[in-house]
Amino acid sequence: MSENIHVRRRKWWHRWLLMPGELRERGVVGINMRNARYLLPNNPRRLYRLVDDKLQTKALAEAHGLSVPETYTVIRSPHDAARLEQKLAKHPSFVIKPACGSGGKGVLVIDGRDAMGRFLKPSGSALTVAEVRHHVANILAGLFSLGGQRDQALVEYRVHPARVLTAISYQGAPDVRLVMLHGYPVMAMLRAATRESDGRANLHQGAIGIGIDLATGRTIRAVHHGKPVTRHPDLDVDLIGVQIPQWERILEIAVTCQEMTGLGYLGVDLMVDETLGPLMIEVNARPGLAIQMANGVGLMARLDPVVLQHRMHPGASWEDKIAFSKQQFAVEE
Ligand SMILES: Nc1ncnc2c1ncn2[C@@H]1O[C@H](COP(=O)(O)OP(=O)(O)O)[C@@H](O)[C@H]1O
Ligand SMILES: [Mg+2]
Repeated sequence: MSENIHVRRRKWWHRWLLMPGELRERGVVGINMRNARYLLPNNPRRLYRLVDDKLQTKALAEAHGLSVPETYTVIRSPHDAARLEQKLAKHPSFVIKPACGSGGKGVLVIDGRDAMGRFLKPSGSALTVAEVRHHVANILAGLFSLGGQRDQALVEYRVHPARVLTAISYQGAPDVRLVMLHGYPVMAMLRAATRESDGRANLHQGAIGIGIDLATGRTIRAVHHGKPVTRHPDLDVDLIGVQIPQWERILEIAVTCQEMTGLGYLGVDLMVDETLGPLMIEVNARPGLAIQMANGVGLMARLDPVVLQHRMHPGASWEDKIAFSKQQFAVEE
């Protein structure tokens, strides 16, 4: 991308930040519009349970030939939790998360152990077995879960992201989010961890949102706490112009997630593992709207052409859909 485009984009963004009235004009979608125009008509309630429980989503994904992080164990009761140490003994690194969590709440990433047998978080801080057990008890009690109901704790493979991605993420695991409508990719972003976000890539935990050109899989702009940035705040590296590995495969996985859930409007989260390639992490039936900031584009500018295309070509194949999005929403020449 030429330097010119960078400069133009930054200036444009600043104006955008300063004049919130312009947000609407530029087709930025807010929560109410998202729900009324895109969620309610396209996402029947009965389908939510498929994606609101990560265990169910993972099972569905595997049944459709998608790779997911291996589940080491599921802790369903205090009885299971009592044997936690034994269950974790053979895994130097792992992730514990609530099956029905959201927004990164309750996700605990463990990277190894210290000499005293304590568990190490990406930030380097150590947790005793008792502390991890306490965390699991909180997950089971529903502290982090949708609706606060009792939940299950999922222990899974800790993804080791491809090196180009760890290079732009502070001690953590970046993930790729795609928003899809009727099986068409409409917007994509990479979320990179910061010192503050402690190994997680959720934006309100302090991670960076990085917009991705759908046509090429290259990063185009980045936002941290709502402000545009070009370099990582903790690492001295450029965030723009990074090629996401296996972009074509990522697009295919996202389309499969739409087909397997039947949801019309959804967010798909993936991580690219260094050796295993793209893994499906979760599907979200109510994807957040910050992706617009990361891309500097309002969702409406992407969603409305897809609504039209879908109406005109109801039987489009997944190849057609990907080709349409790549051609229609390309950012770079
Ligand atoms: N298996 C994993 N390996 C490494 N990091 C993970 C793994 N699962 C989740 N994470 C990190 O934690 C974040 C939140 O996890 P996710 O499963 O998406 O839960 P939530 O629904 O709370 O967003 C991810 O964006 C990622 O950065
Ligand atoms: Mg997530």
